[in-house]
Amino acid sequence: MGSQLTAPSRTSGSAITASALNLPEDIHPVNFSETQQHLEVQWSDSHKSQHPWSWLESCFDGGNVEQFGQDHPRSLWNSSIENSPPEVPFDAVMIEPNEQGMANLTRNIRVHGFSFVIGTPPTPEATEALLEKIGPIRTTHYGGFYDFIPDLALADTAYTNLALPAHTDTTYFTEPSGLQAFHLLSHSAPPNAKPTDEALGGQSLLVDGFNAATILKKEFPDAFEVLRTTRIPWHASGNKGIAIVPDQTYPVIEQDGDELAKVRWNNDDRGILDLFEADKWYSAARKWNAILRRRTNEYWFQLTPGRVVIFDNWRVLHGRAAFEGIRRICGAYSRSHSEGPKQRLSRR
Ligand SMILES: [Fe+2]
Repeated sequence: MGSQLTAPSRTSGSAITASALNLPEDIHPVNFSETQQHLEVQWSDSHKSQHPWSWLESCFDGGNVEQFGQDHPRSLWNSSIENSPPEVPFDAVMIEPNEQGMANLTRNIRVHGFSFVIGTPPTPEATEALLEKIGPIRTTHYGGFYDFIPDLALADTAYTNLALPAHTDTTYFTEPSGLQAFHLLSHSAPPNAKPTDEALGGQSLLVDGFNAATILKKEFPDAFEVLRTTRIPWHASGNKGIAIVPDQTYPVIEQDGDELAKVRWNNDDRGILDLFEADKWYSAARKWNAILRRRTNEYWFQLTPGRVVIFDNWRVLHGRAAFEGIRRICGAYSRSHSEGPKQRLSRR
C-alpha cells in the first residue's frame, strides 16, 4: 500500500524523494488524517504525504475509466450505420470556443472508429488545418500531408484507379498510423465521357474490423485464435530504395487483455508465413476475409468535396471501388489515435 500511495503525493519536508525505491522496505503508515481535499498519511520514517481523494478513487474498480476513454465505450457497427453515420460540422471543430466540436469529433472516433467532418472548405489548406488541429500529422515515406491525383509513379495501389478491398494501412510500421483522413477535392469525368456520364465510381468502403473480429471469435473461435497468435513478417516494398519492416512480427489481431486493440490486414504487405503454420493460417484467413466481405459488414458511401472522413486505422478497414476520370484527394496520417491533448477533450 505504501509504495502505491507515495507515487502521486506531495511529501512534506525536504524535496520530493527521487524514487520510491529509496524508501525503507519496512515503511508503513502510522497515522491518517483527512481534509476535504486529501488524505494525509504519517509514515513510520516520519515523513508525511498527501493524496487527493480523486486519485484514491481512481485506484478502485471503475477508476481510470475517464483516463482511458472507457466512459465512451466502443460501439461496434455494420452496414446499417449508413442510416446515421457519425459527423461533426467543420466550423464546430475549428471555431467553437469551448472546443465542444473537437470533443464530439474525438468521441465519434473513439466510439465508432470514424467520423465525417462536414462543411469543410474543399481546399488542401482547410483540410490540413483541420487535421493539424486534431493532432500532429505523421510524416512517412509518402511524405506528410498529401494532395494527389492517381499517378503510378509512386508504386502503390493507392495511387491507381483500381478497386481496393478493405485493408488497413502501414501494417509494416511497428506502430501503424493511428488516424487516417481523406478529403475528395474534385472528381471530374474522363475527357472522352459523354455529358450524361455520371457513374464515375470510386465509392469508398469502411468496415469495422473490431466488429468483424468479434463475429469471427463467435463463429470460428479457433480461427480467431490463429489470427491472434500467428505472427506475420509484414513489410513494405515496391518503391525504389524503400524497404520497411516493423521491429518484430505481429499477428493480424492484437488484444490488450481481453479487449481488441488493433487489426493489421493488407495482403499486399504480408510477408512469407512460417511453413508449418501456413495451412491453419490460410484456413483462418479465408474465414476472416469472408466476414470482412459480407455485404452486411460493409459501409459504402461516396466521398464528396466538403465531407472529410477520418478513421482509426487500428480498427477500421478502408477500401474503394474502381473509378473513372480524374480524382484529386488530399489527406494525412496522424501518429496515433490515442495520444495528444485533443483526445482528452472527448470526455467532456
Ligand atoms: Fe489504404
